[in-house]
Amino acid sequence: MKTSVLLAFSFVLPLIRAQVPHWGPCPEPDVQPGFSLKQFMGRWFEVARLPAQFEKGRCMETNFTLTTGSTIRVVSSEVFKGQTRKIEGTGVIEDMKNPAKLGISYSYVLPYSPYWILATDYTNTALVYSCTDILRLFHVDFAWILSRTRTLPEATILNAKETFVNNHIDVSRMIDTKQEGCDKYL
Ligand SMILES: *[C@@H]1O[C@H](CO)[C@@H](O)[C@H](O)[C@H]1NC(C)=O
Repeated sequence: MKTSVLLAFSFVLPLIRAQVPHWGPCPEPDVQPGFSLKQFMGRWFEVARLPAQFEKGRCMETNFTLTTGSTIRVVSSEVFKGQTRKIEGTGVIEDMKNPAKLGISYSYVLPYSPYWILATDYTNTALVYSCTDILRLFHVDFAWILSRTRTLPEATILNAKETFVNNHIDVSRMIDTKQEGCDKYL
């Protein structure tokens, strides 16, 4: 047991260095009931996030396109040091009984990471959560507030944060994503 814990620690260290791991297993938040993958497709801007090492720039956005009934193409982009960087991935509904629980992978060598739509009205906002258990001892998580527009009213953001908190997700370290001066890079 001891060795495997140590091994796990060294394996995930690069991942958790950017994050604050939380003790205990992942929370089990409610997800969007009757989730429609089709309505969720299209362009979403990131308005706020929990800090993630793989996101360094600004102007984050993701474009989702349906490829089959349950698989999607995911193109995420950001502006970093004056350049637009794009990464492409694939997404799937992992459990048809729970269509709001998507999995997304940005490389065919990587497993799907959870990408759960906790709540969305499809036309304004979407709350996304991703959590990975490490031996059920602790967990590392990511959370995003997405919007169909680059910015959202403060009250909407506060509401979104409240939804995370009600689901036992700590968003006290959530930061706003810079979405100013982005359109000149398109
Ligand atoms: C999103 O992807 C679709 C399909 O690849 C493309 O037609 C569309 O122009 C893209 N939209 C944006 C805003 O990049």
